Amino acid sequence: MPLIRLDKYISERTEYTRSQIKQLAARGQILLNGCIEKKTYTKIDPEQDVISVSGREISSRRFRYFLVNKPAGYICSTSSSDGKSVLELIPPEMRKKGLFPAGRLDKDSLGAVLITDDGELAHRMLSPKSHISKIYIVKLDRPFQNKYIDIFNNGIKLSNGETCLPARVMSAKNCDKLAFIELSEGKYHQIKRMFAAVGNHVDVLMRISLGNLILPETLGIGECMELLHKDVENLLERPDFDLFCQSLSPFFSAILINK
Ligand code: URA
Repeated sequence: MPLIRLDKYISERTEYTRSQIKQLAARGQILLNGCIEKKTYTKIDPEQDVISVSGREISSRRFRYFLVNKPAGYICSTSSSDGKSVLELIPPEMRKKGLFPAGRLDKDSLGAVLITDDGELAHRMLSPKSHISKIYIVKLDRPFQNKYIDIFNNGIKLSNGETCLPARVMSAKNCDKLAFIELSEGKYHQIKRMFAAVGNHVDVLMRISLGNLILPETLGIGECMELLHKDVENLLERPDFDLFCQSLSPFFSAILINK
């Protein structure tokens, strides 16, 4: 690989401008193979050299994939004109131009959001034809009723006449106001409208998986992690809903009970 200037390498992979990179370098916050590098015009080999900025390594991979555990109040948009964008949950030194949230969660919803600059993967995940599974846990206003299982499984009709694809739903073991639901499509406010159609109301909603990628228990609300190649492959796999809900029920139920 040809050598490139250190400041060019960093500016292409983060949101820092060249002048900000110069300031960071002057403050000794840029390391080249573990040693402080103050000359931003130094030529580096992206395949061999390890660069870190403010204590974080800059990846030389072509595409980046981040999983954030979105708190309520953030919007899934690249612009922050309507409120705080989920992109702000990525530490500045890891942000890269071209990142966008692949898919939406309502402003008041919590949980898993993928942020990437890989348009092709996002398209595969969001295409209605792909039917990628997403699992959510909801806190309901009134107790879960077993009749919801068949109603949702048969494809519920929403109040505006739209019909949903069959969806799995299951009550959580430890609380009759908590339920898990699996969707393979993404209509506007879909889960809230599905529960409204059976006379209930969603008080809190959290997405806990994207495909077979489960929100790690160690990723706190508001935190962000960079995904590895094997995690990205999991995004397109289908999880086992029953097993998934049984194993994760105690952890995610505890989060929602306190909301
Ligand atoms: N369904 C909803 O109603 N809201 C979300 O954020 C996601 C799914």
